[in-house]
Amino acid sequence: MIYLDHAATSWPKPPAVLRAMSDYLETAGGNPGRSGHRLSIAAARYVYDAREAVASLFHAPDPLRVIFTLNVTYALNLAMRGLLQPGDHAVTTSIEHNSVMRPLRELERQGVRLSVVAGRPDGTLDLDALRQAITRGTRLVVVNHASNVMGAILPVSEIAQIAHHVGALLLVDAAQTAGTLPIDVAAMEIDLLAFTGHKGLQGPPGTGGLIIGSNVDVAQLTPLARGGTGSRSEFEEQPEMLPDKYESGTPNGVGLAGLGAGVRWLVERTVESIRAHELELATVLTSGLRCIKDVTVYGPVDPKQSVAVVSCRVKGQRVSTIGLRLDDEFEILCRVGLHCAPAAHRTIGTFPEGTIRLAPGVFTTMDDIYATIRAFEKLACL
Ligand code: ALA
Repeated sequence: MIYLDHAATSWPKPPAVLRAMSDYLETAGGNPGRSGHRLSIAAARYVYDAREAVASLFHAPDPLRVIFTLNVTYALNLAMRGLLQPGDHAVTTSIEHNSVMRPLRELERQGVRLSVVAGRPDGTLDLDALRQAITRGTRLVVVNHASNVMGAILPVSEIAQIAHHVGALLLVDAAQTAGTLPIDVAAMEIDLLAFTGHKGLQGPPGTGGLIIGSNVDVAQLTPLARGGTGSRSEFEEQPEMLPDKYESGTPNGVGLAGLGAGVRWLVERTVESIRAHELELATVLTSGLRCIKDVTVYGPVDPKQSVAVVSCRVKGQRVSTIGLRLDDEFEILCRVGLHCAPAAHRTIGTFPEGTIRLAPGVFTTMDDIYATIRAFEKLACL
């Protein structure tokens, strides 16, 4: 079996992740930060270790500014719904996932003014067009770090400078880049970074979070949910302390144990070496696919401008048919269709059919890539 669906979720997970989750349930497993007994303390230690590992990976200003959430969608909602008020102006792009578009469209109905900057047909962004959309009254700019459809990487440092020039904050959706590209929130001047744990960070589903940069005033960021935090239990009001303000309810301790192990595993390998491996795979894959008559590959021509997310189509064949045949006849697993990003597909001209998305990962081999190219050679001439 060849697993090319790492953009949806990474698989398999490193053995250290499975071990950490099993150890958590066997040796910890109390409610972190609630009771004071040894199993509760042991569980809290796993959660704090994960927080420290994530903070160090992304150069967060303080581990307490790492807010754990159920997934990146929740983190993005927390940032957008927590910051934007009716009358505020927000700017995003037409190459975003629905985890950005849907909350922003809902906020627009509630009175937020929204500008959507059109991406180019290859999935890249015209920074001059973005510059024109960001004005003195803009409160928040929301962009992905790399597209989940065509992999195109956006220049987030430059976008941060454009946003900061007018006093706006930058929220970055790192769903496809956390663990696959180096990210330093301080050096890149990212104000809010939303990440998922179950893709490049090698953790399990049910993990993700929001890094709150040091220049974000948390008094201006309203929590999405309120409830028990294990702290300041004498008050019926939500505590202001971090991360408790944004982490109500029992956390996913077992998932965070896995996430911490995943992050430590990739730090040992280094994100740079993972990027080099995935870039090599994507380069061979795209050039192999581009050589096949009747296969169209979308996204930037230079693979260095993308993460390892390759979208393509085979002339005259439905993407759903190709997806099924890849699975049934070649044991190649991928995701076809709109990838929860209809605006991105409109931008590159593949709406409503979508594309076949091939996303190699850290455990994908070059032989897997050659086998995939051979499969497309067969599929394209049938
Ligand atoms: N957002 C994930 C994807 O692109 C699930 O497939």
